[in-house]
Amino acid sequence: MSTLRIVPTNAALGARIEGLDRTQIARPEIAAMLHKALGDHLLLEIPGEPMTPQQTRDFAAAFGAPRIQLLRYKHSGEVPEVSVMVSTLMADGTTDKTALRAEDWHTDDSYFQTPAKATLLHSIDIPSRGGDTWFCNMRAAYEALPEATKRRIDGLRAIHAYDTSRARNRPSARTAQEIAETPDVEHPLVRTHPDNGRKALYLNFNRLDRIVGMERAESDALLDELAAHCRKPEFHYAHKWAVGDAVIWDNRATMHRVDVDYPMGEKRVMQRVLIEGDRPF
Ligand code: OGA
Ligand code: MN
Repeated sequence: MSTLRIVPTNAALGARIEGLDRTQIARPEIAAMLHKALGDHLLLEIPGEPMTPQQTRDFAAAFGAPRIQLLRYKHSGEVPEVSVMVSTLMADGTTDKTALRAEDWHTDDSYFQTPAKATLLHSIDIPSRGGDTWFCNMRAAYEALPEATKRRIDGLRAIHAYDTSRARNRPSARTAQEIAETPDVEHPLVRTHPDNGRKALYLNFNRLDRIVGMERAESDALLDELAAHCRKPEFHYAHKWAVGDAVIWDNRATMHRVDVDYPMGEKRVMQRVLIEGDRPF
C-alpha cells in the first residue's frame, strides 16, 4: 500500500506531497493522483533528493509532455527539455536577466499562443537564506473580484508581448531566431481551466501590454486595478526551498515571483521543465 499523502498548506494555495517514492511516479494511479492534486491545489511541493537532468525530465513527464524552452542558452545540453536556471547574484552585475525579471508576478510562457500548462523547478543549489518563490492563486483572485468588475472584464482580450514598457525589468536578449519565434499574441483576460471549467484571471506583469480595443490610458488603468487586486497577500503563499525539492505549479491559474533578497555570490541553481499546454480560452 502506498503511503503517499497530499497535505494542503491551508494557505491560499498549494499542497505538500509526502511519502512519494519518486521512482514510482510514472505508475498510472500515482500520476493520476498527482495530476488531480495539481488541478485542485495549483502548486505541489515534493521534497526529495537531487535528481540528474534525465531523472528530472522523467519525473516531470508524469504531468504531461516536457517541452523545450525558448532561450537556447539555458538548455542543459544532455537533456534538451531540462533547462538550468542560474539565479545566483553576481557582484559584477552579470546576474542572469531572467532571475531579476522573475522578481515581479508572472505566469510562464504567456508570450506563446500555447503557453506551458505547468512548470517544474528542482533545486540543486540554494542560498543560505532568502530566495523564496511566491505563488498567487488567480482562481481565488478572480472569484474575489466585485461582480461589476467580473462583468466588465468578461470576454476582454489582451496582448502579451515578450517585453512591454509596463514591466519593471527588461528581459534576456533573444537571438534573431528567438525573436522570430515570439511575435505578440492575444489571450483572454479571464481563463477557463480545461480540466474543471473554473475561471481564473490570466495576467502577467512582465508581458501583458494592453487590452485589445482600449485606449492605452484606459487599458493601463484597468490593468493597474487588476494588478493591485492580485498583489493582496490573502492570495499568496511562499515556498521555502530545501535542496532536492521538486515544485510544480499550474500556469493557467497562478502567477509566481521570486524574492531576490539572498546573499550575493551564494549559488542558486535550479533545473526547470515546462509542460506542454493548451490554447487559453
Ligand atoms: C521560473 C521562475 C522563480 C524562482 O523558473 O519560471 O520564475 O524562484 N522561477 O527561481
Ligand atoms: Mn517564471
